[in-house]
Amino acid sequence: MINIVVLPGDGIGPEVTAQAVACLTELSAERDLGLRFSEHDFGGVAIDRHGLPLPEATLEACRNADAVILGAVGGDKWNDAAERPEAGLLKLREELGLFANLRPARVLEALQDVSPLRPDISKGADILIVRELTSGIYFGERSSAHDAASDVCSYTREEIERIAHVAFRAAEHRRHKVTSVDKANVLATSKLWRETVTEVAKSYPGVELEHMYVDACAMVLITNPRRFDVILTENMFGDILSDELSVIGGSIGLLGSASVGSGGPGLFEPIHGSAPQIAGLNVANPAGAIASAVMMLEELGLGDSGRLLASALETTLLEGCRTSDLGGDASCSEFGEQVRENLRDCLSRSGAYRE
Ligand code: NAD
Ligand code: IPM
Ligand code: MN
Repeated sequence: MINIVVLPGDGIGPEVTAQAVACLTELSAERDLGLRFSEHDFGGVAIDRHGLPLPEATLEACRNADAVILGAVGGDKWNDAAERPEAGLLKLREELGLFANLRPARVLEALQDVSPLRPDISKGADILIVRELTSGIYFGERSSAHDAASDVCSYTREEIERIAHVAFRAAEHRRHKVTSVDKANVLATSKLWRETVTEVAKSYPGVELEHMYVDACAMVLITNPRRFDVILTENMFGDILSDELSVIGGSIGLLGSASVGSGGPGLFEPIHGSAPQIAGLNVANPAGAIASAVMMLEELGLGDSGRLLASALETTLLEGCRTSDLGGDASCSEFGEQVRENLRDCLSRSGAYRE
């Protein structure tokens, strides 16, 4: 039995997560994967019910899980909470030791028309952002007074080494190139970053390393995204660049991610937020949540099942089934149902067998 904790969270989180879980439930039944799901309160909804975003019972359930699926957290309602929903997410990542956040993005041929870039620029772009997730400015000391505030950004050599290894190992299975993104012309943490990544690169002679400043990277992502394979970067730069990258492929609603690191349960979350403006309308794009479920299956060693779900998702987009962020009129649940329809087709073609 594989124990999956589901944290639907706030805004569109519950809607998109429900579609991903429905796909996994069907896949599990057909292929006898033994996935078991249990939902827990997390984020704003946990503040409402328990007074804090990450209740002890939720954290304990996550620690004991084989994997955790997250929707999204946050919303204006909780902006002045003593501990915001977003702080709960940072705490969860830290507590589970999830220092590596993998955010893959591809410009699919079927969605080329919704890329804001000309086809000759974005066609075929295929990039993995490896974002450091449990250090840097997000986790440094904070202080705020009436007229001044500060956030400290710090990194240790060890923190940089371990995320660099993740990026180089990923590149070995891709197109053998790592672009390390920093601001080493200004920041001390970036100088250490560049020096450490250069050192780690020596253990991967088959992988090409280049360094790029983050401001230039933001530009090149738009002018020549195809030149990138793996982008390795620190916490905040990775957050910003991945939202930019997501829209090159059509919408932030498409991207999934895996947060891993310590060898314990991973956290699988779309990169988007709780999108309060469209919450409850059944119009959100669940593709990012479903793509995160694919990454979860791979991480659990159920790669064959993951590939079936990935293929069902891609077929759905190929067929022109689109939610409104991609200019279509499919609802969130209709899109999810179409993925499941295609999954049934994939299963019957492959002949459902046990993993
Ligand atoms: P957002 O990602 O929620 O929304 C940005 C834009 O993208 C909006 O126009 C939204 O409607 C659209 N969008 C996002 N996901 C979509 C989807 N699946 N389908 C269709 N459209 C989608 O970012 P924001 O508005 O800056 O933040 C809203 C809240 O979410 C804030 O409280 C923020 O802190 C939080 N947030 C949470 C996470 C997370 O839980 N991992 C990530 C990012 C933001
Ligand atoms: C993300 C989000 C989070 C982050 C916030 C909500 C803390 O933007 O997962 O990309 O910045 O990591
Ligand atoms: Mn973000």
